[in-house]
Amino acid sequence: MLDLLIQNASLPDGRRQMAVAVQGGSIVEVAAGLNAAALETLDAQGFLLSPPFVDAHFHLDAALSYGLPRINQSGTLLEGIALWGELKPLLTVEALIERALAYCDWAVARGLLAIRSHVDVCDERLLAVDALLQVKRLVAPYLDLQLVAFPQDGLLRAPAALANLQRALDRGVEVIGGIPHFERTAEQGAASVRLLCELAAERGLRVDMHCDESDDPLSRHVETLASETERLGLQGRVTGSHLTSMHSMDNYYVSKLIALMAEAQLQVVANPLINITLQGRHDSYPKRRGMTRVPELLAAGINVAFGHDCVMDPWYSLGSGDMLEVAHMGLHVAQMTSQTAMRQCFDAVTVNAARVMGLEHYGLQAGCHADFVLLQARDPIEALRLRATRLKVFRRGKLLAESPAAAVSLHLPGRPESTCFGLCP
Ligand code: FE2
Repeated sequence: MLDLLIQNASLPDGRRQMAVAVQGGSIVEVAAGLNAAALETLDAQGFLLSPPFVDAHFHLDAALSYGLPRINQSGTLLEGIALWGELKPLLTVEALIERALAYCDWAVARGLLAIRSHVDVCDERLLAVDALLQVKRLVAPYLDLQLVAFPQDGLLRAPAALANLQRALDRGVEVIGGIPHFERTAEQGAASVRLLCELAAERGLRVDMHCDESDDPLSRHVETLASETERLGLQGRVTGSHLTSMHSMDNYYVSKLIALMAEAQLQVVANPLINITLQGRHDSYPKRRGMTRVPELLAAGINVAFGHDCVMDPWYSLGSGDMLEVAHMGLHVAQMTSQTAMRQCFDAVTVNAARVMGLEHYGLQAGCHADFVLLQARDPIEALRLRATRLKVFRRGKLLAESPAAAVSLHLPGRPESTCFGLCP
């Protein structure tokens, strides 16, 4: 007897009328025309059953702090960092936990069941580290939270940042972060990349670095990150986040750089919502978009995910934990409008992001965890177009969240009364 049988589902790969059988929290079979006894059955009515959304780049310690202690007036990355610096001394573990848990509720409601969050380690007290480690334990039954030790004020620029980062790793933070473009000089930026990659090699950890998050066409830290990855044998374990300077780099240089990145099996996370608002702030007109070169990276075989980065914090005043909104923006900014490219945008917030995080048993095949979201759309492109309602969210075969189907009743003069079930054009 199965625990759960979902029938008549469409899958992201285009298969329709598929059944997904679940037992003991895992998928045991995915097939057409499957009919077996189950404790619970669900008719998906042809809607899209997807693996859950994954956010490969977030800052849970800052989330939902918008307006504390004030609002970012210039809208720049640098004022955001300064503002976060003003907020840090005012933080308490209790407030951090409360905000983070509230955000995780939002995430689950939107079918987002795995988050890689950077956590600022430039604070002697390591308050945010302790708070998010506690949140990680609290949410573990329903959400995978992976933490990155992030020296927000610069590994070499901020006093004791390296010691604090190591203390955070000792306490259980599992990925090594960095911010080379914020170090005092390009040389110190490169030195920080080398140092952090060596630390990752020593400790057997993954790396995810904020890298070249500027409009400076001469920022070169991703080159160092790729070369250190090769030198230390870290291939496949290193991610470059943001990489916005690539937008402004010389095309000839980029043609060499992307090949180097592919050789090092670097993974990339672009953050379209935040980077379309933060970048180009020092431009008049024309204003650069400032997102990294997503289609070109994908064409080179590099794994690219889209991250949310920020929700209602010193850098970004909007957001709701909706990865379809993130993918929708990424699609527009990168002009990824072909059928294939739109599907790649959906992958960027599901399978590609899961690969960045190194999630195991993720996907819709037998043997994977029975984690999925049922969307009120028939395929990934429609899901993006409508930012589809998350009808049901499952983890290990258990229902975590459900939303009523979106519907509008129309009462138009000269037209028959009608109801449009969230699928109106
Ligand atoms: Fe970030």
